Amino acid sequence: MQPIEYVFIPFSFLWYLFLILWHALIGLIFAFIPYALLPKKDVSNDIVLVTGGGSGFGRLFALEFTKLGSTVVIWDINLTGAENVVKECKELGGKAFAYKVDVSNSENVYKTADDVRKDVGDVTILINNAGVVAGRYLLDAPDHLIHKTLDINIKSHFWTVKAFARSILDNNHGHFVTIASMAGHYGGTQITEYSASKHAVVGFEDSMFCEFELYKRSGVFSTIISPFYTSTGMFDGIEKTAGLLPILTPDYVMHVSMNAILTNTRYVFLPPLTKLYLFLRSFLPEPSIRAMTSFFRIEGYMAGYKGREKTK
Ligand SMILES: NC(=O)c1ccc[n+]([C@@H]2O[C@H](COP(=O)([O-])OP(=O)(O)OC[C@H]3O[C@@H](n4cnc5c(N)ncnc54)[C@H](O)[C@@H]3O)[C@@H](O)[C@H]2O)c1
Repeated sequence: MQPIEYVFIPFSFLWYLFLILWHALIGLIFAFIPYALLPKKDVSNDIVLVTGGGSGFGRLFALEFTKLGSTVVIWDINLTGAENVVKECKELGGKAFAYKVDVSNSENVYKTADDVRKDVGDVTILINNAGVVAGRYLLDAPDHLIHKTLDINIKSHFWTVKAFARSILDNNHGHFVTIASMAGHYGGTQITEYSASKHAVVGFEDSMFCEFELYKRSGVFSTIISPFYTSTGMFDGIEKTAGLLPILTPDYVMHVSMNAILTNTRYVFLPPLTKLYLFLRSFLPEPSIRAMTSFFRIEGYMAGYKGREKTK
Protein backbone atom coordinates (compact mmCIF):
# COMPACT_ATOMS: atom_id res chain seq x y z
CA MET A 1 0.00 0.00 0.00
CA GLN A 2 1.54 3.30 -1.16
CA PRO A 3 0.96 6.58 0.70
CA ILE A 4 -1.64 8.79 -0.96
CA GLU A 5 -0.40 12.01 -2.55
CA TYR A 6 -2.43 15.13 -2.00
CA VAL A 7 -3.96 16.24 -5.29
CA PHE A 8 -5.31 19.76 -5.51
CA ILE A 9 -8.71 19.88 -7.20
CA PRO A 10 -9.97 23.36 -8.18
CA PHE A 11 -13.11 24.25 -6.19
CA SER A 12 -12.53 21.13 -4.06
CA PHE A 13 -13.44 23.20 -0.99
CA LEU A 14 -16.99 23.65 -2.30
CA TRP A 15 -17.26 19.96 -3.15
CA TYR A 16 -16.14 18.89 0.34
CA LEU A 17 -18.38 21.47 1.98
CA PHE A 18 -21.29 20.00 0.02
CA LEU A 19 -20.31 16.47 1.14
CA ILE A 20 -20.05 17.52 4.81
CA LEU A 21 -23.47 19.20 4.76
CA TRP A 22 -25.07 16.42 2.72
CA HIS A 23 -23.94 13.68 5.10
CA ALA A 24 -24.91 15.82 8.11
CA LEU A 25 -28.41 16.18 6.64
CA ILE A 26 -28.70 12.44 5.91
CA GLY A 27 -27.47 11.72 9.47
CA LEU A 28 -30.08 14.06 10.90
CA ILE A 29 -32.89 12.46 8.90
CA PHE A 30 -31.76 8.94 9.88
CA ALA A 31 -31.56 9.97 13.56
CA PHE A 32 -35.34 10.38 13.53
CA ILE A 33 -36.11 7.06 11.85
CA PRO A 34 -36.59 4.22 14.38
CA TYR A 35 -33.94 1.50 13.98
CA ALA A 36 -36.70 -1.06 13.43
CA LEU A 37 -37.65 0.68 10.18
CA LEU A 38 -34.10 0.92 8.78
CA PRO A 39 -32.99 -1.71 6.24
CA LYS A 40 -30.72 -4.31 7.87
CA LYS A 41 -27.97 -6.29 6.17
CA ASP A 42 -28.16 -10.07 5.76
CA VAL A 43 -25.53 -11.86 7.87
CA SER A 44 -26.79 -15.41 7.34
CA ASN A 45 -23.70 -16.34 5.27
CA ASP A 46 -21.21 -14.64 7.57
CA ILE A 47 -18.69 -16.26 9.86
CA VAL A 48 -18.64 -14.22 13.07
CA LEU A 49 -15.71 -14.52 15.48
CA VAL A 50 -16.27 -13.19 19.00
CA THR A 51 -13.29 -12.83 21.35
CA GLY A 52 -14.27 -13.28 24.98
CA GLY A 53 -17.45 -14.95 23.75
CA GLY A 54 -17.71 -17.22 26.79
CA SER A 55 -19.72 -14.76 28.89
CA GLY A 56 -21.25 -11.27 29.13
CA PHE A 57 -21.58 -9.22 25.93
CA GLY A 58 -19.62 -11.82 23.93
CA ARG A 59 -22.12 -14.55 24.76
CA LEU A 60 -25.03 -12.30 23.77
CA PHE A 61 -23.37 -11.40 20.44
CA ALA A 62 -22.91 -15.13 19.75
CA LEU A 63 -26.60 -15.84 20.44
CA GLU A 64 -27.86 -12.85 18.42
CA PHE A 65 -25.79 -13.74 15.34
CA THR A 66 -26.85 -17.39 15.68
CA LYS A 67 -30.51 -16.29 15.56
CA LEU A 68 -29.70 -14.45 12.29
CA GLY A 69 -28.21 -17.62 10.74
CA SER A 70 -24.50 -16.72 10.99
CA THR A 71 -21.85 -19.30 11.82
CA VAL A 72 -20.31 -18.33 15.16
CA VAL A 73 -16.75 -18.88 16.37
CA ILE A 74 -16.11 -18.26 20.05
CA TRP A 75 -12.66 -17.51 21.38
CA ASP A 76 -12.14 -17.40 25.11
CA ILE A 77 -9.43 -18.16 27.62
CA ASN A 78 -12.21 -19.89 29.56
CA LEU A 79 -12.91 -22.92 27.36
CA THR A 80 -15.77 -24.17 29.54
CA GLY A 81 -17.56 -20.83 29.15
CA ALA A 82 -17.00 -20.88 25.37
CA GLU A 83 -18.26 -24.48 25.09
CA ASN A 84 -21.37 -23.67 27.11
CA VAL A 85 -22.18 -20.82 24.72
CA VAL A 86 -21.60 -23.12 21.73
CA LYS A 87 -24.13 -25.49 23.30
CA GLU A 88 -26.63 -22.64 23.62
CA CYS A 89 -26.06 -21.64 19.98
CA LYS A 90 -26.60 -25.24 18.86
CA GLU A 91 -29.82 -25.43 20.89
CA LEU A 92 -30.98 -22.47 18.79
CA GLY A 93 -30.24 -24.53 15.68
CA GLY A 94 -26.99 -22.71 14.86
CA LYS A 95 -23.48 -23.67 13.83
CA ALA A 96 -20.91 -22.70 16.45
CA PHE A 97 -17.32 -23.54 17.37
CA ALA A 98 -15.32 -22.96 20.55
CA TYR A 99 -11.55 -22.41 20.84
CA LYS A 100 -9.40 -21.82 23.89
CA VAL A 101 -7.31 -18.75 23.06
CA ASP A 102 -5.39 -16.20 25.07
CA VAL A 103 -5.92 -13.14 22.85
CA SER A 104 -3.04 -11.31 24.53
CA ASN A 105 -0.60 -13.86 23.05
CA SER A 106 0.09 -13.03 19.39
CA GLU A 107 1.43 -16.50 18.49
CA ASN A 108 -1.60 -18.15 20.07
CA VAL A 109 -3.89 -15.82 18.06
CA TYR A 110 -2.14 -16.45 14.71
CA LYS A 111 -2.00 -20.23 15.24
CA THR A 112 -5.69 -20.47 16.25
CA ALA A 113 -6.69 -18.16 13.37
CA ASP A 114 -5.10 -20.72 11.00
CA ASP A 115 -7.07 -23.49 12.71
CA VAL A 116 -10.31 -21.52 12.29
CA ARG A 117 -9.61 -20.95 8.57
CA LYS A 118 -9.11 -24.72 8.11
CA ASP A 119 -12.02 -25.87 10.32
CA VAL A 120 -14.65 -23.20 9.57
CA GLY A 121 -13.54 -20.80 6.80
CA ASP A 122 -12.68 -17.11 6.43
CA VAL A 123 -13.97 -14.95 9.26
CA THR A 124 -16.04 -12.05 7.87
CA ILE A 125 -17.21 -10.33 11.07
CA LEU A 126 -14.61 -9.85 13.80
CA ILE A 127 -15.92 -8.79 17.20
CA ASN A 128 -13.03 -7.67 19.42
CA ASN A 129 -14.75 -7.96 22.78
CA ALA A 130 -12.48 -9.75 25.30
CA GLY A 131 -11.59 -7.47 28.18
CA VAL A 132 -10.59 -7.32 31.84
CA VAL A 133 -10.21 -4.65 34.51
CA ALA A 134 -7.99 -4.55 37.61
CA GLY A 135 -10.42 -2.33 39.55
CA ARG A 136 -7.66 -0.95 41.82
CA TYR A 137 -6.52 2.54 42.70
CA LEU A 138 -3.52 3.50 40.57
CA LEU A 139 -1.05 3.42 43.45
CA ASP A 140 -2.34 0.03 44.67
CA ALA A 141 -2.42 -1.70 41.29
CA PRO A 142 0.19 -4.48 40.97
CA ASP A 143 2.26 -4.19 37.79
CA HIS A 144 1.20 -7.59 36.50
CA LEU A 145 -2.49 -6.53 36.49
CA ILE A 146 -1.65 -3.32 34.63
CA HIS A 147 0.25 -5.35 32.01
CA LYS A 148 -2.60 -7.85 31.83
CA THR A 149 -5.29 -5.26 31.13
CA LEU A 150 -3.21 -3.52 28.46
CA ASP A 151 -2.25 -6.84 26.84
CA ILE A 152 -5.82 -8.13 26.67
CA ASN A 153 -7.80 -4.93 26.12
CA ILE A 154 -5.68 -3.24 23.47
CA LYS A 155 -2.67 -5.22 22.23
CA SER A 156 -4.93 -8.16 21.30
CA HIS A 157 -6.68 -5.94 18.73
CA PHE A 158 -3.42 -5.71 16.76
CA TRP A 159 -3.09 -9.51 16.67
CA THR A 160 -6.69 -10.34 15.77
CA VAL A 161 -7.00 -7.62 13.11
CA LYS A 162 -3.69 -8.68 11.57
CA ALA A 163 -4.91 -12.28 11.59
CA PHE A 164 -8.25 -11.67 9.87
CA ALA A 165 -8.27 -8.32 8.03
CA ARG A 166 -6.42 -9.50 4.92
CA SER A 167 -9.16 -11.84 3.72
CA ILE A 168 -11.90 -9.35 4.68
CA LEU A 169 -10.23 -6.64 2.56
CA ASP A 170 -9.38 -9.01 -0.31
CA ASN A 171 -12.99 -10.22 -0.50
CA ASN A 172 -14.40 -6.70 0.04
CA HIS A 173 -16.82 -8.17 2.55
CA GLY A 174 -16.84 -7.86 6.30
CA HIS A 175 -17.24 -5.88 9.46
CA PHE A 176 -14.92 -5.00 12.36
CA VAL A 177 -16.71 -4.52 15.67
CA THR A 178 -14.74 -2.94 18.50
CA ILE A 179 -16.05 -3.05 22.05
CA ALA A 180 -14.61 0.06 23.63
CA SER A 181 -16.25 1.75 26.64
CA MET A 182 -17.29 5.17 27.87
CA ALA A 183 -14.02 4.84 29.82
CA GLY A 184 -12.35 5.22 26.40
CA HIS A 185 -13.58 8.81 26.28
CA TYR A 186 -13.11 9.93 29.88
CA GLY A 187 -11.40 8.69 33.02
CA GLY A 188 -12.54 7.73 36.52
CA THR A 189 -11.30 6.38 39.81
CA GLN A 190 -10.02 2.78 40.07
CA ILE A 191 -10.01 2.40 36.28
CA THR A 192 -6.69 4.03 35.32
CA GLU A 193 -5.23 1.12 33.38
CA TYR A 194 -8.68 0.14 32.02
CA SER A 195 -9.46 3.67 30.84
CA ALA A 196 -5.99 3.96 29.30
CA SER A 197 -6.55 0.70 27.41
CA LYS A 198 -9.97 1.82 26.18
CA HIS A 199 -8.68 5.24 25.06
CA ALA A 200 -6.07 3.27 23.11
CA VAL A 201 -8.81 1.10 21.61
CA VAL A 202 -10.63 4.22 20.39
CA GLY A 203 -7.41 5.44 18.73
CA PHE A 204 -6.75 1.99 17.31
CA GLU A 205 -10.16 1.74 15.66
CA ASP A 206 -9.98 5.25 14.25
CA SER A 207 -6.53 4.69 12.73
CA MET A 208 -7.46 1.21 11.47
CA PHE A 209 -10.50 2.68 9.74
CA CYS A 210 -8.40 5.47 8.15
CA GLU A 211 -5.96 2.90 6.79
CA PHE A 212 -8.62 0.53 5.52
CA GLU A 213 -10.28 3.46 3.70
CA LEU A 214 -7.14 3.50 1.52
CA TYR A 215 -8.19 0.11 0.12
CA LYS A 216 -11.45 1.64 -1.20
CA ARG A 217 -13.53 -1.30 -0.06
CA SER A 218 -17.20 -0.37 -0.12
CA GLY A 219 -18.18 -3.71 1.49
CA VAL A 220 -16.08 -3.37 4.64
CA PHE A 221 -17.46 -1.62 7.72
CA SER A 222 -16.46 -0.78 11.26
CA THR A 223 -18.55 -0.19 14.37
CA ILE A 224 -17.16 0.98 17.70
CA ILE A 225 -19.36 0.53 20.74
CA SER A 226 -18.83 2.62 23.89
CA PRO A 227 -21.19 1.55 26.68
CA PHE A 228 -21.34 2.93 30.19
CA TYR A 229 -21.19 0.46 33.14
CA THR A 230 -23.37 -2.58 32.39
CA SER A 231 -24.47 -5.42 34.66
CA THR A 232 -22.62 -8.28 32.93
CA GLY A 233 -20.65 -9.25 36.04
CA MET A 234 -17.42 -7.54 34.99
CA PHE A 235 -18.06 -4.66 37.38
CA ASP A 236 -19.97 -6.61 40.03
CA GLY A 237 -20.45 -4.73 43.28
CA ILE A 238 -20.73 -1.21 41.88
CA GLU A 239 -24.54 -1.26 41.93
CA LYS A 240 -24.32 -0.16 45.58
CA THR A 241 -22.00 2.79 44.98
CA ALA A 242 -23.15 3.91 41.50
CA GLY A 243 -24.00 7.58 40.95
CA LEU A 244 -26.85 9.16 39.04
CA LEU A 245 -26.41 7.52 35.64
CA PRO A 246 -28.09 4.10 35.81
CA ILE A 247 -26.13 0.87 35.26
CA LEU A 248 -27.16 -0.43 31.82
CA THR A 249 -28.63 -3.86 31.19
CA PRO A 250 -26.74 -6.22 28.83
CA ASP A 251 -29.93 -6.76 26.76
CA TYR A 252 -30.30 -3.02 26.10
CA VAL A 253 -26.64 -2.68 25.05
CA MET A 254 -27.00 -5.72 22.81
CA HIS A 255 -30.20 -4.51 21.16
CA VAL A 256 -28.69 -1.14 20.21
CA SER A 257 -25.33 -2.68 19.23
CA MET A 258 -26.89 -5.29 16.93
CA ASN A 259 -29.02 -2.62 15.24
CA ALA A 260 -25.91 -0.50 14.71
CA ILE A 261 -23.93 -3.40 13.22
CA LEU A 262 -26.78 -4.48 10.93
CA THR A 263 -27.22 -0.91 9.64
CA ASN A 264 -23.43 -0.37 9.27
CA THR A 265 -23.50 2.45 11.82
CA ARG A 266 -20.01 3.51 12.92
CA TYR A 267 -20.43 4.89 16.45
CA VAL A 268 -22.50 3.73 19.41
CA PHE A 269 -22.48 5.69 22.70
CA LEU A 270 -24.61 4.27 25.51
CA PRO A 271 -26.55 5.81 27.06
CA PRO A 272 -26.87 8.38 24.24
CA LEU A 273 -26.86 11.18 26.85
CA THR A 274 -23.11 10.64 27.25
CA LYS A 275 -22.65 12.16 23.77
CA LEU A 276 -23.92 15.45 25.20
CA TYR A 277 -21.35 15.20 28.02
CA LEU A 278 -18.54 14.63 25.52
CA PHE A 279 -19.73 17.59 23.43
CA LEU A 280 -19.88 19.91 26.46
CA ARG A 281 -16.47 18.71 27.58
CA SER A 282 -14.95 19.81 24.27
CA PHE A 283 -15.39 23.50 25.12
CA LEU A 284 -16.44 24.04 28.76
CA PRO A 285 -13.73 25.10 31.25
CA GLU A 286 -12.29 22.29 33.35
CA PRO A 287 -13.94 23.35 36.68
CA SER A 288 -17.35 23.17 34.93
CA ILE A 289 -16.55 19.64 33.78
CA ARG A 290 -15.59 18.69 37.32
CA ALA A 291 -18.84 20.15 38.64
CA MET A 292 -20.72 18.08 36.08
CA THR A 293 -18.97 14.81 36.97
CA SER A 294 -19.49 15.54 40.68
CA PHE A 295 -23.19 16.14 40.03
CA PHE A 296 -23.48 12.69 38.44
CA ARG A 297 -21.15 11.30 41.18
CA ILE A 298 -18.99 9.65 38.52
CA GLU A 299 -16.00 9.56 40.91
CA GLY A 300 -17.71 7.17 43.33
CA TYR A 301 -18.97 4.49 40.91
CA MET A 302 -16.16 1.99 41.48
CA ALA A 303 -16.07 2.20 45.29
CA GLY A 304 -18.06 -1.03 45.71
CA TYR A 305 -16.21 -2.91 42.94
CA LYS A 306 -15.76 -6.66 43.40
CA GLY A 307 -15.65 -7.77 39.75
CA ARG A 308 -14.80 -11.23 38.52
CA GLU A 309 -12.28 -12.74 40.89
CA LYS A 310 -11.28 -15.27 38.21
CA THR A 311 -9.76 -12.56 35.95
CA LYS A 312 -7.29 -11.52 38.66
N1 LIG B 1 -19.62 -4.60 31.61
C1 LIG B 1 -19.41 -3.32 31.45
O1 LIG B 1 -19.79 -2.46 32.27
C2 LIG B 1 -18.69 -2.83 30.22
C3 LIG B 1 -18.84 -1.49 29.84
C4 LIG B 1 -18.18 -1.05 28.72
C5 LIG B 1 -17.38 -1.91 27.99
N2 LIG B 1 -17.25 -3.20 28.39
C6 LIG B 1 -16.38 -4.06 27.60
O2 LIG B 1 -17.13 -5.12 27.06
C7 LIG B 1 -16.27 -6.23 26.83
C8 LIG B 1 -16.91 -7.49 27.38
O3 LIG B 1 -17.02 -7.34 28.78
P1 LIG B 1 -18.17 -8.03 29.65
O4 LIG B 1 -18.80 -6.97 30.44
O5 LIG B 1 -19.00 -8.90 28.78
O6 LIG B 1 -17.25 -8.87 30.65
P2 LIG B 1 -17.10 -10.45 30.87
O7 LIG B 1 -16.12 -10.60 31.96
O8 LIG B 1 -18.44 -11.08 31.02
O9 LIG B 1 -16.49 -10.97 29.48
C9 LIG B 1 -15.14 -10.89 29.15
C10 LIG B 1 -14.72 -12.21 28.50
O10 LIG B 1 -13.37 -12.08 28.06
C11 LIG B 1 -12.72 -13.31 28.34
N3 LIG B 1 -11.27 -13.12 28.43
C12 LIG B 1 -10.57 -12.51 29.43
N4 LIG B 1 -9.26 -12.57 29.17
C13 LIG B 1 -9.12 -13.20 27.99
C14 LIG B 1 -7.99 -13.56 27.19
N5 LIG B 1 -6.74 -13.28 27.57
N6 LIG B 1 -8.20 -14.21 26.01
C15 LIG B 1 -9.47 -14.52 25.63
N7 LIG B 1 -10.57 -14.21 26.35
C16 LIG B 1 -10.39 -13.55 27.50
C17 LIG B 1 -13.31 -13.74 29.69
O11 LIG B 1 -13.07 -15.12 29.96
C18 LIG B 1 -14.76 -13.38 29.47
O12 LIG B 1 -15.49 -14.47 28.90
C19 LIG B 1 -14.93 -5.89 27.47
O13 LIG B 1 -14.04 -5.44 26.49
C20 LIG B 1 -15.28 -4.76 28.40
O14 LIG B 1 -14.19 -3.91 28.65
C21 LIG B 1 -17.89 -3.68 29.48
